[in-house]
Amino acid sequence: MRFDFEKEWQPRRAKAELLKKLLLAVREKTNYSCKVCLALAPKDGSKWNEENCIKENKYYIERKGFFNYDNSNKRAKVDDKSNRYSILVKNVPSKPIIPENEPNTTQQLWPYLRIADYLYPREKKSKNERIFRKTSVYDSTRKHAAQFAPDNQSRSLKTITDKDIKRAISRKNFNKKTYHSLCYALVSIVLAKDTYNAVYVDPTIIEENVFGIDFHNVNCIRQQDVPEGVAFVFQNDSRKLLFCFDDQKEKILNYIAQEVSEIDKGKFRSICVLIVRDVNPKSIAELMKDRRRVSRADEWQRGFFLSFPELGEKAEETNKDAYLKLGVCTPDPEKPKPALVKTIAAEVISNIPIGLENPSHFKLRFVTDPRSFNIIPGQFIMMATSPLKHIRVKQPQIQNNQKISINITPSAYLKRPFGIHRAFYPHFEEDYLKELLLPSELATILHTVYPNRFEIFYKRLENGIGTSELAELKKGDKVEIIGPLGKRERMRELRGQGFEEVHVIGGGVGMAPLIFMVQALKYYSHSVKVFIGTENIGMLKYSHQDGLDGTFDVASKDATIYINDLLEIGIEPKDIHVSTNTLDVIDVIPATNQYQGLVTDQYRTYLKEAGQQKKIIAFTCGPTGMMKTLDGITNDYDILLKVLMEKRMACGIGVCLSCVCETKTGEGHYSRVCTDGPIFDASEIIW
Ligand SMILES: Cc1cc2nc3c(=O)[nH]c(=O)nc-3n(C[C@H](O)[C@H](O)[C@H](O)COP(=O)(O)OP(=O)(O)OC[C@H]3O[C@@H](n4cnc5c(N)ncnc54)[C@H](O)[C@@H]3O)c2cc1C
Ligand code: FES
Repeated sequence: MRFDFEKEWQPRRAKAELLKKLLLAVREKTNYSCKVCLALAPKDGSKWNEENCIKENKYYIERKGFFNYDNSNKRAKVDDKSNRYSILVKNVPSKPIIPENEPNTTQQLWPYLRIADYLYPREKKSKNERIFRKTSVYDSTRKHAAQFAPDNQSRSLKTITDKDIKRAISRKNFNKKTYHSLCYALVSIVLAKDTYNAVYVDPTIIEENVFGIDFHNVNCIRQQDVPEGVAFVFQNDSRKLLFCFDDQKEKILNYIAQEVSEIDKGKFRSICVLIVRDVNPKSIAELMKDRRRVSRADEWQRGFFLSFPELGEKAEETNKDAYLKLGVCTPDPEKPKPALVKTIAAEVISNIPIGLENPSHFKLRFVTDPRSFNIIPGQFIMMATSPLKHIRVKQPQIQNNQKISINITPSAYLKRPFGIHRAFYPHFEEDYLKELLLPSELATILHTVYPNRFEIFYKRLENGIGTSELAELKKGDKVEIIGPLGKRERMRELRGQGFEEVHVIGGGVGMAPLIFMVQALKYYSHSVKVFIGTENIGMLKYSHQDGLDGTFDVASKDATIYINDLLEIGIEPKDIHVSTNTLDVIDVIPATNQYQGLVTDQYRTYLKEAGQQKKIIAFTCGPTGMMKTLDGITNDYDILLKVLMEKRMACGIGVCLSCVCETKTGEGHYSRVCTDGPIFDASEIIW
C-alpha cells in the first residue's frame, strides 16, 4: 500500500483531514484481521479530536497507551500524556480487555461460561428460591458451562464466584460470538481432511483469539462477494461452503439462501449450510425435524442443515488431537430414534410400463402429502394397490343433525410391501447428485429437507392380484401408504465403520430398492461399484406404449431403467457393470463392463481381477439363489455382505409373523423380515 505523505501533507490543512484520508486508504487495502497502530506525536495545541476521525472511518479503539517520545529538539510542549498510541480494529473489539491482574484460570473459564449463557439462557429465580434454597441466578450457567469444559477446568467452575461469572457473561453479543467461534473451529477440523480452507470470516459474528482462532490470512475473498449474514466461508478449488447460524432472523436466512442459489446457478459450486444450535438433547431432534419439513422447503432453498452436537461428534471422530487441542467439550448428539410409522395419502404422478415386449414392469411415481416422510434406504412401505374412494351414502343417515359419510377403501386386499426406488427432494433437480460433490466427512452430518416425491419400480406378477391392480393406477389416483417400515440401517455410518468401498449387486426387480441405496451412498461421497443382473436389456427399456394415463415420455425412449437412474445419480459409467442372458450391447457403459451370463459370475471375475485390498461392504437383493451364491463369494474375499430379504407380508409391523425367515440368531431361529430386517448380515441367514 502506498500513501504519499509528501504529496498529501499540507501544513495548513487540518490534521483531521489527513488522518481521515490515511485511515480510509488503510481500511480499503487491509482485511478484517488487520489491526492499525496509530501513534500520535504530542499535541501542538490545535483543536482536533482524532477519536472522531477514527469513528467516522468505522474503526474502533481496542487499546490505548503512551510511548516515549524523543523531544530532544524541543519541537513540542510535552507532558506525560502527549505521546499516545491507539490500537485500532475494524469492528467492535473482538474481546473485552481482560485486566492484567485477572487470575489466569478465571479467564480460561470465560469461553465455557459464555457459550453456556448463550445456549441455555438463565432461568429467572424467585427471591424466595434464592434465599431458601441458596441457589444463585448463575447456578445454571455454572452447571451448563461444566458440560463444555474439560474435566480439569470444570472443577474450577464449581468454585468460580457469581461476580466472576457476571463479568464473563456480561456482554450477550460476545457470548453468541464465542459459540459461533467454537462452531467455526469444529468446521475447520472436519473440513481439513478434504482440504477446504477458510476464505472469509465475518468478525461481527465470529470472535478471534478463542479456541486458537486467528483470522490472519483468512479474508481472501471480498466481503462484497458474500451475502450479508453469512458467518464464514470455506473453499476448495472452485467449491465454496457458506455457513450461517439459525440465530439469524428467518427473513435473512431466506435472503441468504436465495442469493446463494442465484450466485450458484444450480451448479452446487456454492452451498449454504445452516448450523442448528439447540443442544438440549430432548429438543435437538425435534428441531432438526422441524427444519427439514417439506412445508418449510421454500425458506431455505437448496440448502443443507447440520446440528451443533453432530458437528462436535464429527470433529472428534475426524481428528481427535485437533479436537482435544480446542480445550472444549461438545454435547453428545442424541441417538437417532426410529421414525414414526405413518399412514399417509400418496397421489400418483405417473405409472409407466417398462419393457419393449409385453411390458411386465412399471415405474410408479407418487407425491406424498407435505408431512415429513423420513424413509431411508433399506426401509420399505406397504402400499394399497387401488385408489381410495370416498363415497357418499345415497340416503345419508342423520345422526346428531350431521350427515354421515363413509370412507370406503374398496380393495379387499392387504397392502403390499415395496422398496423405494428413487426419492426426490423439493428444490433439488432429479439429477442434482451429478453436480453435488460434498466434502466426505461433512457429508455424513449434512441434511436436506425430507423428500416429497418417490418412485417404486415393480413387477406385475403373472398371477399377482395386487401388482395387477397397481398397474391400473392412473395419474391423480390417491392411494394409502404406510411407512417407513423396517430397521434403519444408516448408509452414513459406513465411513465411520472404516469401509472404503461399497459394492451393490442386484438381480432383476431386486435392483429397484438398491438404486435408492446408491443415491444415498453417492450423497455421502462413497466410492460405489454397481452390478446389475437382468434377463435382457429390452426388459429395462421404456415401453413403446403409453402408460394407462398417457404418460409415455418420448425423451426417455432410449433410456434403460437402472442404468439411466445410476447415471442421473452421478455414478460414473466405469462403475456400472451389467450382465444379461443374451449378449446385449449398451453404449453408455464400457464394453468391458458388460457380461453374458450370471451376475454372480461377473462379480466373482471382477473381484479376482481387481485383487481387492480395500475394506469393502456389499449389499444385495434379488432371487434367493443369487444371494446365497454371493454369500459364498464374499466370504472368500473377506467382504461383509448385507442382504435385503423379501418375504410375503401381511402387517409389516411385526404382528402377524407371515414374513419370518430362518436365521442363526433369531428367536427360535426365526426372524421377522419386516421388523428385524429387511437388511440382514448374510452370515446370519440359514439359506
Ligand atoms: C421389503 C420388500 C420390498 C419389496 N420391494 C419390491 C419392489 O421394489 N418391487 C417389486 O416388484 N416387488 C417388491 N417386493 C415384492 C412385492 O411385495 C410382491 O411382488 C407383491 O407383494 C406381490 O403382490 P401380488 O398381490 O401381486 O401377489 P399375490 O397375489 O399376493 O401373490 C402372487 C404370487 O406371488 C408370490 N409372492 C407374492 N409376494 C411375494 C414375495 N414377497 N416373495 C415371493 N413371492 C411372492 C405368491 O406366493 C403368489 O404365488 C418387495 C417385497 C418386500 C417384502
Ligand atoms: S409382516 Fe407381519 S410380522 Fe412381518
